[in-house]
Amino acid sequence: MRLLIVVLAALSLSVSAADITVTSPDKSIAMTFTDKNELAQYAVSFNGKTLIQDSKLGFTFLKAQPLYRDFKVTEISRDSVDSEWEQPWGEQRVIRDNHNEVLVRFDHLTDKARYFFVRARVFNDGFGFRYEFPDQGEKVITRELTEFWFTDSHKATAYWIPGQARERHEYEYRTTPLQQMEGIVNTPATIVYDDGTHVAIHEAALVDFAGMSLKKEQTGRLVAKLSPRADGTMVRKSGAFNTPWRMVLVGDEATDLVNSYVMLNLNEPNKLGNDLSWIEPGKYVGIWWCMHIDLCTWGQLDGAGKPTGIHGATTERTKHYMDFAAKYGFDGVLVEGWNVGWDGDWIANSELFSFTQAYDDFDIKTVSDYGKKLGVRLIGHHETSGGITNYEAQMEDGFALYQKMGVRQIKTGYVAHGQNLKRKDADGVMRYEFTDSQDVVNHFIHNIATAAKYNISINTHESVKDTGLRRTYPNWIARESARGQEYNSGWGAPNQPEHLAIMPYTRMLASPMDFTPGIFDFEYKRINFGGEEHGLQKHMRPQTTLAKQLAEYVVLYSPIQMAADLPENYEAKLEPFQFILDVPTDWEVSKAIQGDVGEYIVQIRKERKARQYSGNDWYLGALTDEQARDISVPLTFLDAGKTYEAQIYRDGDAAHWADNPYDIVIEKRRVTATDTLNVRLAESGGVAVRFKAL
Ligand code: NOJ
Ligand code: CA
Repeated sequence: MRLLIVVLAALSLSVSAADITVTSPDKSIAMTFTDKNELAQYAVSFNGKTLIQDSKLGFTFLKAQPLYRDFKVTEISRDSVDSEWEQPWGEQRVIRDNHNEVLVRFDHLTDKARYFFVRARVFNDGFGFRYEFPDQGEKVITRELTEFWFTDSHKATAYWIPGQARERHEYEYRTTPLQQMEGIVNTPATIVYDDGTHVAIHEAALVDFAGMSLKKEQTGRLVAKLSPRADGTMVRKSGAFNTPWRMVLVGDEATDLVNSYVMLNLNEPNKLGNDLSWIEPGKYVGIWWCMHIDLCTWGQLDGAGKPTGIHGATTERTKHYMDFAAKYGFDGVLVEGWNVGWDGDWIANSELFSFTQAYDDFDIKTVSDYGKKLGVRLIGHHETSGGITNYEAQMEDGFALYQKMGVRQIKTGYVAHGQNLKRKDADGVMRYEFTDSQDVVNHFIHNIATAAKYNISINTHESVKDTGLRRTYPNWIARESARGQEYNSGWGAPNQPEHLAIMPYTRMLASPMDFTPGIFDFEYKRINFGGEEHGLQKHMRPQTTLAKQLAEYVVLYSPIQMAADLPENYEAKLEPFQFILDVPTDWEVSKAIQGDVGEYIVQIRKERKARQYSGNDWYLGALTDEQARDISVPLTFLDAGKTYEAQIYRDGDAAHWADNPYDIVIEKRRVTATDTLNVRLAESGGVAVRFKAL
């Protein structure tokens, strides 16, 4: 003990000449850069308490001296911003950007030609910093040394999924003491302290760089772990460059993380020009769930080369879905499995996919013309199975075909495990890549920017994580990048009841997600198929109540929402279906108002005025984990003086996800801002409410 005191005293004597502090506008967060001990370091305090202790900055390079010590701060400059900007679509129309900035130059003590800047922006609800490199010739980064060294790590719980892993970002969250984070961890990763401090680590504006995961080196010290390129290096750069922003959200409440716009504020403004009218938020149905529950197939032939007899993407079936979409006011119909390449083992045969040649039982012109007459758009699908080069070779032709057919949105897919995306290098050699390695990050942006030329928006599945690039490219309309509803179909272990009670505080911080909510029939083929003897569990289907399926439309933000189930399953339950028909996907205001990570969330949103939406209605979605709970929500968010009809879709008194998921009560009540909504959420239940302005 005495030794420790002596060491600390010695350190405190060597306080550097350059301690540069930048605080949030409300002073709750203070970030300090220092060159003490000739290291480039930063520390952060929150509410006057150290949250991140001295944490190193730096890099190592191939065939060049590392930049991690012998630093001196030689220059600083400051800036402050308080402005507003408007999203073309989103969870919140107007976003405030209020931050203080510092730019710090770290010079190498002896080699003056080698230096970098760190630009930091501190907001009231978090901060971001990035490295800015001048032109120092070619740079090949072999390690990023950025640390996030959290204090009091024995008092913190972490919510995380693996990074750079076999199933990409499609994992259920692990809840562990921070000190027991294992292996490489994906971001956003969330940390909750016993004293209520909530933290999430992520990055913003991931462009031409490797995705950043984290590795816990000791107690609370998390170190950046870049996703490797196929050649084993991390990032190749020439000329001046900036890294993505390393971002940390901080708040007193779990909901502070959800309500933060730091990530979007750290991204560059829209690059697609003023006319964005071709980017269309909306709702869709699709020839999709039937494949996942084995009622139809993507390809025409099975693995043995025999006709399956139940090919999904036929002209007839598409027309049927379009009739259904038109009848109920959906904007589009997604059709998967329309193009040649799905027969046999489509996951392994990525090189066989054609993006222009349809199967002979799918007439793309007939269906898109049919849809046009009904006011329903065909939604395109490009599954690549991770064949990047095969896709890039055909991408423009694929977009041109769809554009000719009036398609405005394409869902893409990159089903390939782990480091298995296939990219041919300049010499024609096939390279195997992670979803977030530098070249794949660039591929995704190339895909989005090229699609914009054809007035097409992209919904990427098996995508690199979202880092807020929808601000710069508003046609990157949604992505998957998490364990979606598809896992509940029975081909994998279903999502556990707590999954959706963790997602708003982790994956959804990167927002928006094409989760594909709205399964209404829980009794399809694989339910209780007796897999327990294989270590599988009972209930191979959504482990939610029906009301929770509805709550997902409000809780899990996306500008495009699918009604994922089969048309006949909706027609069998028209009353709860009404909520899906009513709920908008574009919002004026959004706010999480109650909740705890891994337990529950109460989310409210006000509709944005557009097409059939008046802009006056409010919506509420709340959901819980495996615990039933009573929520009490003062309706103070409603417009003062207005009366609303609250259309409430809640769990019935006997509802339970496991044995009584369909028990739902739908009731209407007049309310004003002075009322309180008291509702019981069943085990893995939820509630969805439309407050219709009268
Ligand atoms: C995985 C996607 O997430 C899913 O939605 C899609 O149906 C399949 N890949 C096939 O492309
Ligand atoms: Ca997927």
